[in-house]
Amino acid sequence: MGYLLLPFLLYSCCLCQLVFSSFSPQSCTKDQSLALMKFKQAFVVHDSSTSSTCDYYGQQSYGKTSSWNTSIDCCLWDGVKCHVLTGHVIELDLGCSSLEGKIDSNSTLFQLSHLQRLNLSGNDFSNSHISPNFGKFSSLTHLDLSYSDFSGEIPPEISHLSKLHSLFLSSYRGLKLGPLSFKFLLQNLTQLREVDLDSVQISSTIPQNFSSHITTLRLDETNLHGILPERIFHLHNLTVLSLVNNQLNGYFPKTKWNSSASIMMLELPGVNFSSNLPESIGCLTSLVYLSLDYCNLSGPIPKSLWDLTHVEYLNLGNNHLEGSIPLFTSGLQNLKTLSLSGNSLSGAIPSWIFSLLSLTYLGLGSNSFSGQLEDFRSNLLVDISLEGNKLQGYLPKSIRNLVNLEMLHLSSNNFSGKIDVSFFSNLKQLEELNLSHNSISLTNYENKIKSTKNLWNLDLSNNKIQGSIPDWAWSNWLLSLTVLNLSHNKLSVLNLSHNMLTSFDQNSRPHLYSIPSSVCNLTSLRVLDLARNNLKGAIPQCLGNMSDQLEFLDMQHNSLSGDLQTTFGLGSGLKSFNLHGNKLEGKIPRSLANCKQLEVLDLGNNHLNDTFPMWLGILPKLRVLSLRSNKLHGPIRASRSMKLFPKLRMLDLSCNAFTAEIPTSLFHNLKAMKRIDQTAKGPNDEYYEDSVTVVTKGQELEVVRILSLYTTMDLSINKFEGQIPSMIGDLIALRVLNLSHNGLQGHIPTSLGKLSVVESLDLSFNQLSGDIPETLASLTSLAVLNLSRNHLQGCIPGGPQFATFQNNSYEGNDGLRGFPLSKDCGSSWRPESDSTTGVLDQESNSTLLSELSWKVVLMGYGSGLFIGSSIAYFLLSSRNSNWLSRIAEDLEYIIIVRRRKKQLGQRRYRRRNNDV
Ligand SMILES: *[C@@H]1O[C@H](CO)[C@@H](O)[C@H](O)[C@H]1NC(C)=O
Ligand SMILES: *[C@@H]1O[C@H](CO)[C@@H](O)[C@H](O)[C@H]1NC(C)=O
Ligand SMILES: *[C@@H]1O[C@H](CO)[C@@H](O)[C@H](O)[C@H]1NC(C)=O
Ligand SMILES: *[C@@H]1O[C@H](CO)[C@@H](O)[C@H](O)[C@H]1NC(C)=O
Ligand SMILES: *[C@@H]1O[C@H](CO)[C@@H](O)[C@H](O)[C@H]1NC(C)=O
Ligand SMILES: *[C@@H]1O[C@H](CO)[C@@H](O)[C@H](O)[C@H]1NC(C)=O
Ligand SMILES: *[C@@H]1O[C@H](CO)[C@@H](O)[C@H](O)[C@H]1NC(C)=O
Repeated sequence: MGYLLLPFLLYSCCLCQLVFSSFSPQSCTKDQSLALMKFKQAFVVHDSSTSSTCDYYGQQSYGKTSSWNTSIDCCLWDGVKCHVLTGHVIELDLGCSSLEGKIDSNSTLFQLSHLQRLNLSGNDFSNSHISPNFGKFSSLTHLDLSYSDFSGEIPPEISHLSKLHSLFLSSYRGLKLGPLSFKFLLQNLTQLREVDLDSVQISSTIPQNFSSHITTLRLDETNLHGILPERIFHLHNLTVLSLVNNQLNGYFPKTKWNSSASIMMLELPGVNFSSNLPESIGCLTSLVYLSLDYCNLSGPIPKSLWDLTHVEYLNLGNNHLEGSIPLFTSGLQNLKTLSLSGNSLSGAIPSWIFSLLSLTYLGLGSNSFSGQLEDFRSNLLVDISLEGNKLQGYLPKSIRNLVNLEMLHLSSNNFSGKIDVSFFSNLKQLEELNLSHNSISLTNYENKIKSTKNLWNLDLSNNKIQGSIPDWAWSNWLLSLTVLNLSHNKLSVLNLSHNMLTSFDQNSRPHLYSIPSSVCNLTSLRVLDLARNNLKGAIPQCLGNMSDQLEFLDMQHNSLSGDLQTTFGLGSGLKSFNLHGNKLEGKIPRSLANCKQLEVLDLGNNHLNDTFPMWLGILPKLRVLSLRSNKLHGPIRASRSMKLFPKLRMLDLSCNAFTAEIPTSLFHNLKAMKRIDQTAKGPNDEYYEDSVTVVTKGQELEVVRILSLYTTMDLSINKFEGQIPSMIGDLIALRVLNLSHNGLQGHIPTSLGKLSVVESLDLSFNQLSGDIPETLASLTSLAVLNLSRNHLQGCIPGGPQFATFQNNSYEGNDGLRGFPLSKDCGSSWRPESDSTTGVLDQESNSTLLSELSWKVVLMGYGSGLFIGSSIAYFLLSSRNSNWLSRIAEDLEYIIIVRRRKKQLGQRRYRRRNNDV
């Protein structure tokens, strides 16, 4: 944007004025002075409030109108210019002038009928509509109303401004332009050179006819659709074309493209080209900025691309490009950003990329590049993202010298070797370091080296890191960390002793604790994931005091032992606490009752010896409680009146030694289990989302989904006695109910027929007697039924659902008769034909099969699976329910609940857009 075309007359006469001071220009007429003054008075000048747009463009906002004074010639006022001969105000430049207020149609602005240039951008016109009177400035050549809080429809009268060269109306999504107005605007304004309508909602196609003088066309996020006219590519003087985020289809010029050799910036992300990138792109020799990400490009990268020797920004990410990166002859010495990520490119990363001297961003992630890295020659590099390839070998030594590096993403490759932690010690700007899913081990030869203080995300998970991580590293890194993921390694000691984190581990009992209490000094940590390592010893008592910041504490599947003595303070912000699969003893710490934010508590598979922690019932947000496989014992008794566990949806108490009756009083409380809430969603965390591990016959599956929708109760393998309380039928949200392997007696309550969404019901290995209630036949979601090893009698109920169960659902009940058992039951219902076409193969009304999309992940190789390629995961929608029904049939019980990391991109986006 610039005033390129000052009228010659004006220019030469200004010169006259400067050179011959005797020349006296016409002064401002009284009516103009008055009009301007009245215009000024319609606004408050907010000197303090700076427009974010002005800031963004590096423009200082200041109240130009404040200095206006009627005792001075208005032609000399700040922002006002008059015609030297006529004295007419021909220019009003009030861009970034801190004006706040409305511009109405009766504004005196419209009395300045000789205006040629009008700039009101970067002010706050408080949702004023753009008056049709703007169309009356018949001499206007330049109009800039961008980012000024105008709203509503841009009036069609704008296309009366037939002399307009520049039109800037970009907004923050407040403005609309009707499709017809858009068409007339481009057709009628035949002198247009610069057009910027970013974020104006146009919702139309691009007309074929428009000014051939166009040099700049910016139509980002304007909701355009249809075909991008090829003519645009041939405009003679086009230098900037930007069409970010529309729904356009494009065709590259078939003929030679050299007619538009003036193009400097081509920004077309999201335009669907569905084709190869043509060789003729090499004709655009003036290109500095080329962005063609998400353009559905396929085929190889044309070699001619490297003819664009001026290019500084090159983004071809997220397409379907294949083949290798072409060799290269002359110098792309200006290239600062190169992104080819998210394609299917293969082969080695060519040497020339490593030797680009201006490179600051290199993104080659999510391709199939192989081979080794070479030394990087540009120490301007800020971001290297090579994750998700097949790269191997050692990390190049030159990484040590990349002192400007902020992000290093090398996860999910085959990098190997021992890396001395001092390797990263020069990288003082480092914010994110992700080496996960490689075969790297860390060593520590050199010691005591200062490192970065900016690191907030450290992911070294899924490597071969053994033994201990050296202390100095922590001292330098950990204070700033928000996310620490060391899961899936072979860590035995987490060594945090160093000057700044002075702790005992060097001088006292280092073997007793492998998680030192100095970890508690890491006050900025929000996520501490040490799951699936080899950590031994006790859990530091102070962990509970670890600031209010810590939300996710995951230490599952280690060998932590001793009493769980951690004390949690009242301010604890802990949301998820997972110690599943350790060797913890003693009682469940009472201070957990202080963790009012706690949603998920998994202490399963330990050696805890306690009674049922009824006191946890006061936690208002607790959704998941797993205490399975411990030494918990005694009866469970609750007060009916206390409203305990109001949000609980998953309760797993299996494999303990609970006695006496099934706790009816507790069931009176479980409010969340009594309501089928299909709109409920789990908390949407930035880093972690919920997942559930499900044990099925033969395989452990990790099911990632919206946790709060899944309601389960597992009381199996305990010593419960007495009858199944008929109250249990009130827990209508249950999808899994397992009461097997207890000493339950009496009849199966008919109320179980109210569990309309139950998918798995296991009452096996008890002493139940009597008939199977007919009401169970109405449970159309039921996929697994196990009533075996009881003393049930009578006829098995009929119905399409029951027809899908096999003998093993009933075996060990000598008194049962009817299908599928061999003992006939007279008139009992039989399936008409092949019983395998049960309802589960149809679109069942179970939400399990319809509403949700499940991501089922084969466990085995652990978390972080989204990133790796060695993943078998299936995205299931309702159309793919057959497969799901097979899982559901195998479903035995839910064992653990853990949180899973989300994809990288999101996190980085957030990090950059708001504070974490
Ligand atoms: C306008 O200018 C005159 C003369 O320079 C000065 O006396 C007066 O205070 C000014 N008025 C304002 C409102 O600044
Ligand atoms: C309008 O004013 C702003 C702020 O001074 C400036 O950045 C912008 O370039 C101007 N517009 C035109 C078209 O000159
Ligand atoms: C313009 O019209 C509005 C009402 O639409 C009125 O409030 C305002 O005073 C008028 N301004 C002038 C300068 O006449
Ligand atoms: C287009 O321009 C012509 C004259 O140049 C004018 O008569 C007509 O009203 C304009 N149309 C629109 C929709 O602005
Ligand atoms: C392109 O720019 C040149 C030089 O400014 C000018 O002479 C020519 O008329 C322009 N062409 C068009 C189609 O506007
Ligand atoms: C935590 O830091 C404080 C000072 O910042 C220090 O006195 C204390 O010893 C540290 N605690 C541990 C366990 O390192
Ligand atoms: C649980 O602890 C008590 C003592 O507090 C002890 O008597 C009992 O044997 C323990 N139970 C188990 C199963 O270890």
